[in-house]
Amino acid sequence: MALRESAKLFRGLSSFTSRWTASSAPNQFFAAAALQTRSSTTTAYDIGSSTNIKWHEGSVSREAREEMLNQKGCILWFTGLSGSGKSTVAYTLEHALKAEGKLAHVLDGDNIRHGLNNNLGFSAADREENIRRIGEVSKLFSTCGVITLVSFISPYIKDRDAVRAKVDAGEFIEVYMKIPVSVCEDRDPKGLYKAARAGKIKGFTGIDDPYEEPENAELVLEVSKEDGVLAPPEKMAGEILQYLKTNGYLGK
Ligand SMILES: Nc1ncnc2c1ncn2[C@@H]1O[C@H](COP(=O)(O)OP(=O)(O)OP(=O)(O)O)[C@@H](O)[C@H]1O
Ligand SMILES: [Mg+2]
Repeated sequence: MALRESAKLFRGLSSFTSRWTASSAPNQFFAAAALQTRSSTTTAYDIGSSTNIKWHEGSVSREAREEMLNQKGCILWFTGLSGSGKSTVAYTLEHALKAEGKLAHVLDGDNIRHGLNNNLGFSAADREENIRRIGEVSKLFSTCGVITLVSFISPYIKDRDAVRAKVDAGEFIEVYMKIPVSVCEDRDPKGLYKAARAGKIKGFTGIDDPYEEPENAELVLEVSKEDGVLAPPEKMAGEILQYLKTNGYLGK
């Protein structure tokens, strides 16, 4: 470790230690640290069938991480039909945020199904579990201060709302890619619509499985009302970037 790094680490540790010893009751320190987190609803909740488990509160607050990054952690949840442009716009936005010096990361449906969710299929129960898991992962990223871009079809309202309910107000930003199925089917870059129409894929969203439109999405991206032309991905990403700026997610 470089000398400067060691000195920095030592300074950090001694400030921690002095705060620790200054407290007559050590628990007060942790109580104060716990209070620094945004709300109790973002930490502990239902632990299912597990027993003997207690939430361990960290002593570095979310606010401290966000201050360090000069941004607010949040979840931009892209939902829409296959081929609606979720991945394209999410990755375009990730680039735009990087150019602004902001830390963002895309969690993409197809990619996550290669790893974390590779044991899940497309039944209603598996789709629910797919969203539950990525909801938890996105919450971890967001708590870390990262602008988290989630691009999942996520066809059911209740699954998306369940993720929204687990995070703070304003932390979950639903981005509805409101692109008609006819446009998505025309694009069909993966040949999935063709296969679904031919009956080779069963339960395909928009064809023989429902897509439930968001009722109160923070952002709706669609074909232009004026000229009926679809905005290019850069323009869509720009619109979201503006929303983040206007609403104070990108710091000072
Ligand atoms: N705004 C846009 N204008 C024109 N073409 C676009 C636009 N957005 C995406 N596309 C094109 O549409 C196709 C589908 O986009 P993309 O793969 O991002 O969709 P998706 O919603 O992520 O689909 P899936 O759910 O299957 O992953 C791609 O070929 C992409 O280049
Ligand atoms: Mg995609």
